[in-house]
Amino acid sequence: MSKEFSEVGIEAIGLYVPKYYVSLDDLASARGIDPLKFSDGIGQKQMAVPPPDEDVVTMGASAAAEALQSVDIDQIDTLIFATESGIDQSKAAAIYVHHLLHLPRNCKSFEVKQACCGSTAALQMAMAMVAQKPTRKVLIIAADVARYGLCTAGEPTQGAGALALVISAQPRIMTLESEWGAYTEDVMDFWRPNYLDEAVVDGKFSIKVYLKALTESWAQYTEESGRSLDDHSRFCYHLPFTRMAEKAHRQLAKLNDQASAHPQQYEDSLHYNRVIGNSYTASLYIGLTSLLETSSEDLTGHRIGLFSYGSGCMAAYFSGKVLPGYRDFLRPQRMTEQFGARHRLSVTEYEAFYTHELPKDGSRYFTETYETGRFRLSGVEAHKRLYEPAQQAKHSVSSAQPAAMAG
Ligand code: COA
Repeated sequence: MSKEFSEVGIEAIGLYVPKYYVSLDDLASARGIDPLKFSDGIGQKQMAVPPPDEDVVTMGASAAAEALQSVDIDQIDTLIFATESGIDQSKAAAIYVHHLLHLPRNCKSFEVKQACCGSTAALQMAMAMVAQKPTRKVLIIAADVARYGLCTAGEPTQGAGALALVISAQPRIMTLESEWGAYTEDVMDFWRPNYLDEAVVDGKFSIKVYLKALTESWAQYTEESGRSLDDHSRFCYHLPFTRMAEKAHRQLAKLNDQASAHPQQYEDSLHYNRVIGNSYTASLYIGLTSLLETSSEDLTGHRIGLFSYGSGCMAAYFSGKVLPGYRDFLRPQRMTEQFGARHRLSVTEYEAFYTHELPKDGSRYFTETYETGRFRLSGVEAHKRLYEPAQQAKHSVSSAQPAAMAG
């Protein structure tokens, strides 16, 4: 393994979450379900909801703009966009972002897919690209809107968000280690045929396959690395809902003959996802950001284990080590600044956002202006999606109030 490869890691992180959310207490009451099922049984408090003028391109571009604040964009050699909420069967969401962020003409830009694990496939590709040429920087964007359908069992596990990573040979936040365990099996636990806007999911089966994939990829990781559970300080798991981390960590403890799993090894990774919901490809990396930004302990030098699961399925277990000074490149005030300023939607308003559709006949349509990140989807014309920088003009959803972490 070359020296450069071992020094590849995360130089910068950007996170974007829609400005609207639904309280799961409100959703439970509207659906006639005990709110404790959502808060304690599933482990979710709120779910982020994108307004009609946001999609994976606008969310991804906002996250990337944050990640690039301290990086020279001329050094970005490749942009990889991972999503399973793609806006086009052919043209990559990456190309729209390339344009919105004025990335260099020579920057390669493309999209990858394998359910929630697409971002991790992008990460491994980026690590190899940087190892091959250490002057390269690769921008990865993971952005998704998790849709399971109104009044379904999956509804409380919806959410939306985008996470961007700059991977380079000058990491400032975390180095990424080269030993990986992976697992692939052809299963139908969650999928979305081209003609559906919502996922089809067998949730209970998916949990089983997730745990099997964790077992298998952990086995390969430990064999390759010679490391044990005790060599890890914290763990981040793919989070379709936060209680999944508890199930996963219990499994890892059992596999390693430990009588009990220690929640403090993963609980700081859950804070953001609990109020965002599932964001598919972004979910694991939002969990990592939550851990690094909210942990009161200085994690410098600590090894973090990461487990990525993408239904269908492909999974990977890998690890990284936190670098000295990492906190200088993060935004621990995010809970109050970004999440605390979001607008709480009533269930009726959320359903209106959810059912909003763009015309499919090529007619011209201008999207109403809502509160968004730096960019918005202004409309469609002749089957082309139109994007623009967001103006300050805001659409007020009748009763949506800025509300902090209540509900
Ligand atoms: N108070 C407290 N806990 C309660 C409760 C209550 N009133 N009612 C139920 N619960 C608990 C259950 O005991 C269960 O806990 P457990 O997991 O420890 O057994 C949990 O809440 C969920 O209840 P369950 O009856 O299993 O819920 P469900 O049939 O509605 O399904 C999911 C839950 C998570 C499977 C469903 O939301 C789903 O399919 N989500 C999508 C998952 C996904 O995306 N998978 C693919 C990607 S990994």
